[in-house]
Formats: sequence, structure tokens, C-alpha cells
Amino acid sequence: MKVLVSGGAGYIGSHTVLALIASGHDVVVVDDFANSKPTVIARLETLAGRPIPVHAFDLTDVDKTERLFDAERFDAVVHFAGFKAVGESVENPLDYYTNNLGSTFSLLRAMARHDVRRLVFSSSATVYGDAPVPYREDHEPLTAANPYGWTKAMQEQVFRDVAPAHGLRIALLRYFNPVGAHPSGMIGEDPQGRPNNLMPFIAQVAVGRRPELEVFGDDYPTADGTCERDYIHVEDLARGHVAALEHLDAMVEPVRAFNLGGGVGTSVLELFHAFERAVGHELPYRVVGRRPGDLPAYWADTARAREELGWVAEKTIDDMCADTWRWQQQNPNGFPDA
Ligand code: UFG
Repeated sequence: MKVLVSGGAGYIGSHTVLALIASGHDVVVVDDFANSKPTVIARLETLAGRPIPVHAFDLTDVDKTERLFDAERFDAVVHFAGFKAVGESVENPLDYYTNNLGSTFSLLRAMARHDVRRLVFSSSATVYGDAPVPYREDHEPLTAANPYGWTKAMQEQVFRDVAPAHGLRIALLRYFNPVGAHPSGMIGEDPQGRPNNLMPFIAQVAVGRRPELEVFGDDYPTADGTCERDYIHVEDLARGHVAALEHLDAMVEPVRAFNLGGGVGTSVLELFHAFERAVGHELPYRVVGRRPGDLPAYWADTARAREELGWVAEKTIDDMCADTWRWQQQNPNGFPDA
């Protein structure tokens, strides 16, 4: 298939571009580089061994989106583009709603007008709120704890309403906690400023950019008192997108959600100690107070993805740490500017 990948220069998007190409698909990237660097594309081209066409614009621009679909004939869209920082979404909710919903509206209009019927969407386990664990795809109602999360829940609703009206087939991929990097160490997660998420923070401590990890609370009702999450290697996640794309035409309903997770919880300290093993020595940390809004523990029920997509996460926590560490060592300051 010829696949338009929105946000293809981002963390998960870039790994998925390579997975799509490895599976024999043609990829075109659209990315406005608001939260990624153009140098990502050069790395992707080296890894893929071929040029990757890129359109640098913001998808909320309806006219530019329309012109792209006029110029190229796509078989499918994989839609990653969007803002994704929880804290920032609380500070600037209007930016989050405008950008995340606006880009989806503009894409859906162009898809409907040009008869592009296949879409794979980047959703999040955040839409489960505090549902019982493990999270199952048939849980309702969807909810959220912040504007970022609401943009995901709202987009899922938009897809459910729009798909039947325009004959679309849409897979909603609910990610758990994506971590890790390409085994080459050439691409990986490159947060701008202070990392919000655990794994990139640990990696920056290990490489000396941050003095210590602050562990947000060790008084949760879990085995070691720290929060448990379902970490998933970005390479497994990328494969999950290919599996979903190739399954769209056979889906049992036009819009279907799939959890992409490993199905087990790993605590903050377990992940931290695994990273120490990857680095080969101890790292500094300090327990501080809880972070508002954090849930104690959640993980995915993975049955649907396994049975319907034939997809399971294969990489271990040690793989995730080793690959993150390789990427961080080779790129201590992330991607170069040019
Ligand atoms: N944590 C720390 N110290 C840090 C960073 C994180 O102890 O410096 C802890 C958090 O308290 C949490 C765990 O590490 O217990 C994981 O935190 P992350 O921020 O890495 O991930 P979250 O599970 O909070 O966030 C994920 C996704 C978001 C999504 C959110 C919904 O990254 O996109 O789940 O809850 F919105």
C-alpha cells in the first residue's frame, strides 16, 4: 500500500515508517516538525536505504492537506501527528483541542473526498481512566483525566461517527507505555526540554544530563510501592501498526480498538534497576511525593490484538533498556539540528 504517515518524524511515527517499509509498503511522511527535527528523516533514509518523501506542513491547514491528497493517491493513512504532553495540555487546552482535533478533521475530510478508506490511529490507554485492570477494549465509557487524554477520547468518538457515513475502516490503537529505540541506536525518543516520562528521564540521568531520578511516590498499593505500567518496546509497537493496517479490510467492525501493550505491569523501581543493568552500574535516585493524577497500576488485556491482529509484544524490559541506552549514548543530546 501507499501509506501517508502523519507525524512520521516523531518517536513512534519514525519507527513505524521503517516497519512499514520493511513490510513492503510505500511511505509518504507529513510532519510540521513542531516537536521533531528534520534530521530524523535523513536517518530514516539511511536505515531504509531509500528516499522518503516528506511534506512539511501542519495538517490543520485544510487547503494544504487537500492539495496533498489531490497530488498523491494514498491507500491508507497512519495518523500520529498531535500534541502529547499531559502537563502542557492542562496549561494550553485550547492549543491541544485545536491542533489534535483540527488535524483529524482536516485529514478525514481529505480522505472522504478522495475515497481513501483505511486509517490507523494513534490512541492511548489514557482513555480507560481508572477502569478495572487489565484494561479491555470493550470498556465504556471512555474518559480522560486531562485535555490531552480528552483529545484522544474525542477523536475516537469522531471516528466512530464518521466511519460509517464515509465507508471508512479505522483501527484505534491504544498504546500503553512506549519506550526503547531502534536497535541501531540511530533513532529514538528525543524529548524537548525536561522529559515528562520515566524512561527518557532515566536515560538522561544515565548520560549525565540530569543529576538524579525523582521517583514520584513509593507509597502506592503495589509490590514495591511505586507505580506499575505496561511498558512496550517501540519496535513492537511499530509492528503493531503494520499488523493493524494489513488487518483493516478484515476487521469485524468498521472502527475497532486494539490495546498495544505487553500485558504485564512493571514498577518504576523495576524499570530503573533494569536500566542500571543495561548501563552496568548504579544510578542516583530519590523518592519524592506523588505526581498528581498518577494511577497506581495498569496494564493491557492483550487477547484481542493477539487473536485478531496476530500480534504480540516480544521484546523484554532488558531489551527496552539496552536499546534506549544505546540510542542515548550515541545521541546524548538527541537529534542534531542539521
Ligand atoms: N515517574 C517518576 N519520575 C519521573 C517520571 C515518571 O517516578 O521523572 C513515574 C510516574 O509517576 C509513573 C511512571 O513513572 O508512575 C510512568 O510515568 P510516565 O510519565 O512515563 O508515563 P504515564 O504512565 O504517566 O503516561 C502515560 C503516557 C501518556 C498518557 C498517560 C495517561 O505517556 O501519554 O500514560 O495516564 F497520557
